[in-house]
Amino acid sequence: MTLFRLDASIRQEGSVSREVADTVQQSWAERHPDGAVVRRDLTASPISAETWTQALGGKMTPEDQRTPEQRAALAFAASLADEVIAADAAVIATPLYNYGISQHLKVWIDLLCVDERFVPGPNPLDGKPVTLVIARGGGYGPGTPREGWDHATPYLQQMFGDNFGGNLTVVAAELTLADVNPQMADLRGLAAESKAKALELAAETGKAHAELVASRAA
Ligand SMILES: Cc1cc2nc3c(=O)[nH]c(=O)nc-3n(C[C@H](O)[C@H](O)[C@H](O)COP(=O)(O)O)c2cc1C
Repeated sequence: MTLFRLDASIRQEGSVSREVADTVQQSWAERHPDGAVVRRDLTASPISAETWTQALGGKMTPEDQRTPEQRAALAFAASLADEVIAADAAVIATPLYNYGISQHLKVWIDLLCVDERFVPGPNPLDGKPVTLVIARGGGYGPGTPREGWDHATPYLQQMFGDNFGGNLTVVAAELTLADVNPQMADLRGLAAESKAKALELAAETGKAHAELVASRAA
């Protein structure tokens, strides 16, 4: 059994999205100790935005006229798609950056969409369990001043659920900046509560996804 894990936090240390994803992974691995975890870390190994323009340019160019750069970018896009399709379950972990996702996560998604298996129509994830982990510095709950400003979560839900056909669970931790921002000091209790709930849901989700995959394989 294979778990695909993607991390988009620019932080290696102190990252809440990575900590929550670690918990999903550990919970999964306890049930599949002989399984593989395929990691893609967009901060440790960034993908250049130009890869997408080259891949798309290649797709729009007759095969025998493609440049070596276009061929390489198309092959790379296919390898990213292979990685996700080959896995039995996936974890996509990202912070909220500037009310959305960062360009390095967007370019990875855009490259998936270059591949024929991820264009609208096919169902590449076909009910594959996917955990979306989101860490947000602020609070976006109902009635808060910035309710509706988190554009990352609905976008990722639409792409990985509606568009790619994944069976999604969203695990969100918010108010993560409360510990370091003195203006948010009175929100530290709520922040701790949010993180504790996220870690609890992450452990449950890793277990549930591991069991679902095992039952499908049986
Ligand atoms: C460049 C940058 C932009 C950010 N933009 C937002 C934002 O728009 N909204 C928000 O709630 N938090 C924002 N944050 C805070 C992060 O979402 C928060 O620190 C989160 O915990 C980061 O994820 P990580 O802990 O996995 O690194 C931003 C942080 C950085 C570094």
